Amino acid sequence: MHAVETGGELVIDRGEGVHVWDEAGHRYLDATAALWYCNIGYGRDEIADAVQAQLRRLPAYSTFGDLSNRPAIELAERVGALAPVEGSKVFLTSGGSDSIDTATKMARRYWQLLGRTERTLLITRERAYHGMHVAGTSLAGIEANAIGHGPLVGDVVKVPWDSPTALRDAIDAAGPERVAAFFCEPVIGAGGVFAAPEGYLEQVRAICRENGVLFVADEVITGFGRAGDWFASSRWQLEPDILTCAKGITSGYLPMGGVIAAPWVAEPFWRPDAGLWRHGYTYSGHAAAAAAALANLDVLENEALPKRALELERDLAEALAPLADHAVVGEVRAGTGVLAAVQFDSDALETDPGLPGRAVAASRRSGVLTRALGIGALQISPPLVIDRDELKELGDGLRSALDDVSGG
Ligand SMILES: Cc1ncc(COP(=O)(O)O)c(C=O)c1O
Repeated sequence: MHAVETGGELVIDRGEGVHVWDEAGHRYLDATAALWYCNIGYGRDEIADAVQAQLRRLPAYSTFGDLSNRPAIELAERVGALAPVEGSKVFLTSGGSDSIDTATKMARRYWQLLGRTERTLLITRERAYHGMHVAGTSLAGIEANAIGHGPLVGDVVKVPWDSPTALRDAIDAAGPERVAAFFCEPVIGAGGVFAAPEGYLEQVRAICRENGVLFVADEVITGFGRAGDWFASSRWQLEPDILTCAKGITSGYLPMGGVIAAPWVAEPFWRPDAGLWRHGYTYSGHAAAAAAALANLDVLENEALPKRALELERDLAEALAPLADHAVVGEVRAGTGVLAAVQFDSDALETDPGLPGRAVAASRRSGVLTRALGIGALQISPPLVIDRDELKELGDGLRSALDDVSGG
């Protein structure tokens, strides 16, 4: 808070396509799609119109018990039909952290319903980011996000982010009969943008299956096009037991999230003797947010943006590749989805830990809005509608910012 008070705020006022403007009228290319969410870009009238019509008709109505509203039903059915596993059920939330909280409880509840009450252990990965609710904080692989709040959710084990063997060992050490679920971002996002090593996802998926451990794909970032398909899990045939999503489901026009349960996970909750699952949020299935999501899915579908993202992953990697030679850059991670990171050189970071922060400020001066990730990298995850000229604008803006901070 002190830093913001001293440095001042950047107040974003409006947006159009891949650009946003601050209150002083400065234009920026939004290199991060805000917090990885504005997949369809800004200024889409069709979303505003759909939300306006829904607000006039019925802004929201609870989806508790036997209550529902039509946009929530339509959205659940539509997301269910897009889901990587046929016949999936969808539980709507208000965002990614809600979705992770719900997935955590759903996984443990699933085992309780099957009478396997000892299956409570959750396995997470180093570098993981699963949101900021208490469950997500407990699953945090970014150490700094997990500490400083006293005791969190218990029964969590962390494994290296890139080793299937480490996952197998952790399951063996605990005993498979104790493990409820393994949480996995198909591409690590806030932890620094790391695509899984070749074969990793297939192997950890198989290990979970062999041991009866639920595989939870956290697709809050990768869902709805960003990974080059509707879901990363579809692209790599992961068939997750549970999938969490948010962000791209509305492209951020209104807050919304969801948890997708494969039919076999959903089934015990439907049994006549299952009783009520005492879980849900006031705004689960919010009608206006669901209307925004439905209109957003229309745009993604009509403009084939998931497919476009697959082509864009190469173009984005090419646009950023020249930055890898820059004196202060260690590497550029790109090439899997519309997701990239410009990683500062470790020696440069050691001598000047303030480098990422200064690069963000310099980028703003050259018309590019980006963000520093804790690992000492710049986040690059533009809207999926970015074109070639805008990719050049992004690359040029970043280069001039890097020159600026390195005096070169
Ligand atoms: C992979 C992942 N999971 C969960 C979350 C939490 O989502 P939210 O901030 O909408 O609560 C995020 C947010 O960035 C995320 O990247």
